[in-house]
Amino acid sequence: MVSLGPADVELLTLKACRAFQESDAICVPTKSSDSSFDKSISYKIVKEALEFLGIKRELVPVYSPMLFNEDDWRNEANIVLETLKKYDCVSFVTLGDAGVYSSIYYLLDIIKERDIDIYDNSEVIAGVTSFSAGSARVKKALCLGDEELIIKPLNPRGKVETTKILMRPKIGMDTEVLGEGDFYTYENMYLAGENITPYKIDRVKKYMTLFINFAKRDSLS
Ligand SMILES: C[S@@+](CC[C@H](N)C(=O)[O-])C[C@H]1O[C@@H](n2cnc3c(N)ncnc32)[C@H](O)[C@@H]1O
Repeated sequence: MVSLGPADVELLTLKACRAFQESDAICVPTKSSDSSFDKSISYKIVKEALEFLGIKRELVPVYSPMLFNEDDWRNEANIVLETLKKYDCVSFVTLGDAGVYSSIYYLLDIIKERDIDIYDNSEVIAGVTSFSAGSARVKKALCLGDEELIIKPLNPRGKVETTKILMRPKIGMDTEVLGEGDFYTYENMYLAGENITPYKIDRVKKYMTLFINFAKRDSLS
């Protein structure tokens, strides 16, 4: 699951480039029901990335009407799984960062239920979000000092749950005040002594500590 960034090929990560090099095929979402790539922004980025890398890969169109429909996600997951019957390594691409309003986590839920080995062997590659890029484009910080950052869906379909990202703790801080929830603690991520725990640690030991309290959500049935 490869995040593409906000549409500038130069905002693709080295990890995304490595994934394309290692992939036999790349599944590319398109809103066109005839499976053409005419209207696909993802296709434009992938095409430019492959040209930049000087490689050719099979591109598999994945019809994604973006109607928030479970049957569509099942069809999309099916295309990924069918492609994996032909090839060892397959990428599926998504705009911006996969963690922000991307259907890839619905697809991963379906893949997990259909083939646990493929799910366990899958990897999600982070990317630049549209709003990180938007902030940089106009040279305005998203948050400074004691400000918070809020990301809101403009057309919610029901009750809105919230994911909270908690940053810049004080060393020695007791985390009881952070409350309860689906917490993960990230210490020294990608650095020496990296520790990612699926709960909230009791006391902060390092400044490079980040907490995510994930929104309550149901998995697909
Ligand atoms: C389904 S969400 C995907 C968000 C994406 N995963 C991200 O990390 O930004 C699509 C929304 O992201 C925003 N978006 C994504 N790329 C954008 C771009 N290049 N320019 C403006 N808005 C963008 C728009 O609000 C769009 O409706």
